[in-house]
Amino acid sequence: MKVAIIYESITGNTKLLADTIEKRFTKDEIVYCGDARKFDFNIDADLYFIGSWTNRGDMTLNVKNVLRRITNKNIALFGTCGYGGSIDYFKTLESRFKSSMDETNKYLGCFICQGKMPLSVKNRYIDMIKDNPLDKNLEVSLKNYEEAVIHPDMNDLENLKKFVSDVKNNI
Ligand SMILES: Cc1cc2nc3c(=O)[nH]c(=O)nc-3n(C[C@H](O)[C@H](O)[C@H](O)COP(=O)(O)O)c2cc1C
Repeated sequence: MKVAIIYESITGNTKLLADTIEKRFTKDEIVYCGDARKFDFNIDADLYFIGSWTNRGDMTLNVKNVLRRITNKNIALFGTCGYGGSIDYFKTLESRFKSSMDETNKYLGCFICQGKMPLSVKNRYIDMIKDNPLDKNLEVSLKNYEEAVIHPDMNDLENLKKFVSDVKNNI
């Protein structure tokens, strides 16, 4: 089986997931593991893991552009997002991610976990709270930021390994 892992990651969270997926296959099986912008469409695979960080509630345009071009293959999606603690939110992201996939593909599921955000995000929340001390939503955002700091954690990566096993079994 030939496997391609194609993703975009700015601060390393989604790359960590991609590297973890890569290690679940032999070197011979991996035909590509890298940035979506550098993927050569002449490379052919049986199984594609397509991953993205979450930008404004969806996968990035570069990843969408790759996903849209793949047809008649086995596809599993993966990603990280800043907001956690809600299965419904992960489900919403999954359906948005999946909406860029051609229907001729066999869909093998989506793994999403929380991913830490840059310190600038926290500082922005703190500044906003100074200006709006009664805004409860800002407090929630700040709390979410602190919860995200440790992710992806060991538990996330163990869940990801199980996801990869399930994908292999369902292909
Ligand atoms: C410009 C920008 C927009 C973001 N938009 C969202 C979003 O809409 N929803 C969300 O849950 N996280 C959002 N995030 C958080 C990132 O998706 C999250 O930190 C992710 O793990 C980063 O992945 P990376 O390290 O692979 O780049 C955003 C981050 C940035 C920098």
